[in-house]
Amino acid sequence: MRVAIIGGTGVYDPGILDNIKELDIKTPYGDALVISGTYNGEEVGFMARHGRGHSVPPHLVNYRANIWALKSLGVKRIIATAAVGSLREELVPGDMVMLDQFLDFTKVRPVTFFEGGEAGVIHQNVTEPYCPQLRQILYDKGRELGLSMHNGGCYVTAEGPRFETAAEIKAYRILGGDVVGMTSVPEVVLAREAGMCYSTVGMVTNYAAGVSTNVVSHEEVLEIMAEHGKNLKELVMSAIPNIPAEHHCSCVELGYDLPGLSK
Ligand code: HPA
Repeated sequence: MRVAIIGGTGVYDPGILDNIKELDIKTPYGDALVISGTYNGEEVGFMARHGRGHSVPPHLVNYRANIWALKSLGVKRIIATAAVGSLREELVPGDMVMLDQFLDFTKVRPVTFFEGGEAGVIHQNVTEPYCPQLRQILYDKGRELGLSMHNGGCYVTAEGPRFETAAEIKAYRILGGDVVGMTSVPEVVLAREAGMCYSTVGMVTNYAAGVSTNVVSHEEVLEIMAEHGKNLKELVMSAIPNIPAEHHCSCVELGYDLPGLSK
């Protein structure tokens, strides 16, 4: 399994995979459920970040088990999806933003595989946290499909599960955030620790609190996902055959051997 998809809010099934199997993977951090299937003859993995029926809130997702499980299956590239709120008028609901940076405002999540002791301590390089090669491939595919794509965007990871205050969003805008969500950190960081290429397609589902006069709600997020989710799935799946075997990035070299696994 070379490529896996982590589906965020509104993307709970792998769509058009054939020969689907459920893999229950035991990890040092707990169990993780990976769906494996084939697409165009290639084995592809799928994981629903929030579990079946969106049952796990963002701050309680077992990010370490999920990434460790994918690594143990041999996955080299992860394409993630995320519903995001827009901090900028020009990022309109339905638009796709290829993330290239993050700001981290999380508070209570395990953030690393390396917690001292036998695992050791590392200080991960995340200068460029999202894989630039995967980002370009997804961006180009989105353009080809006629989607409204943005090549780059800074994702503010809020702790959630509540939405933000208008003051928080105002501050995030000043700091350089473009979109806001609750999950990209620590997922992207753990993928980098594992030496995997990781890219996120953020789908704008709403203007964030105070950016427009609308009232932010989970129902609104789900409504827009239902309307545009087909595009998102089509983008992710159809980009997979365009991913070459060669890496033109440093994601692999920047990673480490994970506790309990060799690279
Ligand atoms: N805030 C945080 N997370 C989100 C939002 C938002 O406005 N929209 C979708 N996920």
